[in-house]
Amino acid sequence: MSRIIGGIATTHVPSIGKAIAENKQNDPYWKPFFKGFDYVHYWLAREKPDVAVVFYNDHGLNFFLDKMPTFAVGAANEYRNEDEGWGIPVSGTIDGHPALSWHLINALVADDFDITMCQDMLIDHAVTIPMTLMWPREKWQGIRIVPVAINTVQHPLPSLSRCLKLGRSIGRAIDSYKPDLRILIVGTGGLSHQLDGKRAGFINKEFDKLCMDRIVNEPETLTGYSIHDFVKEAGAQGVEFLNWMAMRGALTGQVAEVHRNYHIPISNTAAATMVLENHAEAKRKAA
Ligand code: DHB
Ligand code: FE
Repeated sequence: MSRIIGGIATTHVPSIGKAIAENKQNDPYWKPFFKGFDYVHYWLAREKPDVAVVFYNDHGLNFFLDKMPTFAVGAANEYRNEDEGWGIPVSGTIDGHPALSWHLINALVADDFDITMCQDMLIDHAVTIPMTLMWPREKWQGIRIVPVAINTVQHPLPSLSRCLKLGRSIGRAIDSYKPDLRILIVGTGGLSHQLDGKRAGFINKEFDKLCMDRIVNEPETLTGYSIHDFVKEAGAQGVEFLNWMAMRGALTGQVAEVHRNYHIPISNTAAATMVLENHAEAKRKAA
């Protein structure tokens, strides 16, 4: 049986890719951010995932405003990146796991999620930057991904509650997947930020802390925020937190926070990293 080892949440700001290309990890501006990944590397080396299910939002590389699925699940053999115009090197191709993708797609549709299935799907910085942060120098070879795109861009957006439920459905589907895989769940983007308009540069430290505290063991309490409330509190692009909610929903066991890093600012963004362990056995024993 497959096993969900835990979840990693991380920002996906494109300028991180440029900083890596220019070897700036130890510059005073970048160090407090990159240092936050030392523990992530240790944890991944110990936990050795085979597959990462990555919840993210596409920013116009694969989907544009003319056609925007609320939820889209990748079912490709491999996922390519292309030049998005941020001045970052185009990332290497990442292998997919079509068998797991189809298992998840079947389970989601059976669970009344009307998702879009994508046998051909470009991945943008919201997948490639987190992958590069988790496995520097493209050391992700051997790891396969199932990308799940959530619309955080073109309103109306799905609610926090719907994204938590999407994650839960995926978590249950993984728990029933027969092959012995160690599966990591990733949620990218956030935390508070707004890139344009009158509030460009808006960051809300208190609200970010509240979200990080509650997502560990009481994610339902966050579902009281409507999307409009959330934009008010976290900024127009802070709603990328929907990807974090889906990640958390997929952790079906007992969840423990083992790492957190929070640093302001990276670009216009509050940059946050969390590692949540999923103790599936503890939950089964208690049940
Ligand atoms: C930035 C943040 C994002 O989430 C993004 O997708 C692009 C840019 C930024 O802060 O620069
Ligand atoms: Fe983004």
